[in-house]
Amino acid sequence: MAGRLAEGKEVTDAIRRHDPLVKGFASDNYAGVHPEILQAIALANEGHQTSYGDDVYTGALQEVFRGHFGPTAEAWPMFNGTGANVVALRAMTAPWEAVVCAESAHIHTDEGGAPERSAGLKLLTVPTPDGKLTPALIDRQAWGFGDEHRAQPKVVSITQTTELGTLYTPAEIKAVCDHAHQLGMLVHLDGARATNAAAALDVPLRAFTTDVGVDVLSFGGTKAGLMFGEAVVVLNPDAVRGLRYLRKTSMQLASKMRFVSVQFEALLAGDLWLRNARNANAMAQRLAAAVREIPGVEVPRPVQANAVFAILPPDVTERLQKRFRFYTWNEATGEVRWMTAFDTTEADVDAFASAVAEEINSCA
Ligand SMILES: Cc1ncc(COP(=O)(O)O)c(C=O)c1O
Repeated sequence: MAGRLAEGKEVTDAIRRHDPLVKGFASDNYAGVHPEILQAIALANEGHQTSYGDDVYTGALQEVFRGHFGPTAEAWPMFNGTGANVVALRAMTAPWEAVVCAESAHIHTDEGGAPERSAGLKLLTVPTPDGKLTPALIDRQAWGFGDEHRAQPKVVSITQTTELGTLYTPAEIKAVCDHAHQLGMLVHLDGARATNAAAALDVPLRAFTTDVGVDVLSFGGTKAGLMFGEAVVVLNPDAVRGLRYLRKTSMQLASKMRFVSVQFEALLAGDLWLRNARNANAMAQRLAAAVREIPGVEVPRPVQANAVFAILPPDVTERLQKRFRFYTWNEATGEVRWMTAFDTTEADVDAFASAVAEEINSCA
């Protein structure tokens, strides 16, 4: 029934166009919004607040981020992760400078060329076995300083957790930062899944960022349970220039910023971020343990946060994808990627693992 939308009182079943019981393993951003975040949005609603970040929620947010990242941290709310990465990297580089990153980095593989197209950035990529850069791997691209024929390496960008589901230890990130700084370079960390990393390492967020020398962070909210929203967090104020202006010219300045900021406050002021990340990580472990028991399924990469990679026979993948959403990672090898989210339940995992076993058996 259409209900009484005209009166603005009821949202009816008629406009719910999806089955809320259906969940998949395609991405942690297929999940909805955590109920506590939705409540926070409602709380910030009604009445007027100054736009473009001069609101009380964005003001209060600075203290929340400083509580996690230390007294010099400055948070700049943005709409999305691609935007946060582009703004951060623009603020860290001059037009003749370049960014060293893993070949598998989201900035290289999954942002439609936005760093190149909208920021004019040269990315210097390095193949890595596990998505992680090391000082030796950085050196493959960090050379030619002072040579006007070479884009000048200025930033090392790493991802935590990586696009391959792996995790840097704080000591590994420290080694990257120390090396980059010795070369006169800066370090950007794409932390779209920083909360998953902290939960998996069982350390505070600053242990693998502020405390080990990361200069600028793109901090992920969307995958952690927000409706949308990421933040560029500047840890070293000397590492950036003009961020205020670059956020606007990169189209990441939200006029109703209070709704991004209040979501982050709800996520980070208490332990919601940790509860959500711990659940997602635990469900990935449960899924990996279950599918490892199934003959014919290979789990080729370590499961360290909320991603499980598996190799399946292609006909099994095809049949399974008719029942559950997930992506094929590598057509050539038959590798698929399964992501768990803050709202993945044990029952979701068990049903999916049973489906994997059924499809393997029926194709045998
Ligand atoms: C490593 C990484 N960085 C950044 C992002 C943010 O991307 P988006 O622009 O879709 O918010 C994602 C999302 O998939 C990601 O996995």
